[in-house]
Amino acid sequence: MRVLGIETSCDETGVAIFDDALPAGEGLLAHRLYSQIDMHADYGGVVPELASRDHIRKLVPLVREVMTAAGCQPQDIGGIAYTAGPGLAGALLTGALMARSLAYAWKVPAIPVHHMEGHLLAPLLEARAPGFPFVALLVSGGHTQLMRVDGIGRYQLLGESIDDAAGEAFDKVAKMLDLNYPGGPEVARLALQGNPEAFAFPRPMLDRPGLDFSFSGLKTAVLTARNQTPDYPQKTADLCASFEAAAVDTLIRKCLRALKETGLKRLVLAGGVSANRKLRHDLAEALKPLGGEAFYPAPAFCTDNGAMIAYAGCQRLRAGERAGLEVSVKARWPMTELPAVG
Ligand code: KG4
Ligand code: ZN
Repeated sequence: MRVLGIETSCDETGVAIFDDALPAGEGLLAHRLYSQIDMHADYGGVVPELASRDHIRKLVPLVREVMTAAGCQPQDIGGIAYTAGPGLAGALLTGALMARSLAYAWKVPAIPVHHMEGHLLAPLLEARAPGFPFVALLVSGGHTQLMRVDGIGRYQLLGESIDDAAGEAFDKVAKMLDLNYPGGPEVARLALQGNPEAFAFPRPMLDRPGLDFSFSGLKTAVLTARNQTPDYPQKTADLCASFEAAAVDTLIRKCLRALKETGLKRLVLAGGVSANRKLRHDLAEALKPLGGEAFYPAPAFCTDNGAMIAYAGCQRLRAGERAGLEVSVKARWPMTELPAVG
């Protein structure tokens, strides 16, 4: 079945077509992404109303482009998947309406997809895909969660951030250092020129049992160091490197703890922060002695995209899930409420 996927939960318009009849790693027929980052950068963050208007402008051209690139006519499409939440309500509605209307016109089912399930399943687009069960670390701008995953829709929350998400912490640190939005990639880029040991930042919640995270204290520690340290040429780079080291170290140690507690060896990383190179490198080193294995989406599919939505929707449509004609989106939506597939 060929499924058209539409992602509009935040500041990227993503459209893709996935075909599950093709061999593993080859099912993605075409994908397009339009990022609104330049538009929001002037404001230092996403402006929801501008995001919605821009999705409306881009959706039809992107769907056309993807259909042409995949060599598809409407009759080749078996279903349409769209991100129904969590995210910005107005932005979600643009994609939901587009998907629901196309599905109605083309007489195919539409399927609402949970954005974080999309992220979680993105590594399954790859030829080297992880088998179930595995532990997943979801690290995006809005979420930091450790999950035990026994199948699609079989999610057990092991731990999550009690305050800021990991990506949010990167973005806030970037902002306090006058770096561009979105901050994650900027902090990571500057960190390469800095000394990760210049500042001894806390590794929050490692001294306590459990798998929850907290990043707000770390963020405050960076702010205090910025204010109390006299300026020197490398200061910003050193702050970035030391912050990144503390954040990455915290994420990795919680992942190892989760593997130990579940007795599993496979670890999936997904969401925008999983693009972070230091995280990938240090995690590989940490897993070596344990015989653990890490799986990631391709770099283009770590951050928001349509491919992961097409993939997740396809799995649920295959299992017979269908949505009615209503258009409903959920700004908040716990992933553990999703029905199990199979
Ligand atoms: O998954 P995503 O595209 O959107 C959400 O669903 O939130 O994640 C975006 C987040 C942003 O906070 C961004 O700063 C962060 O991912 N990010 C990174 C990197 N690339 C993106 N954080 C650290 N290092 C990176 N290389
Ligand atoms: Zn996302």
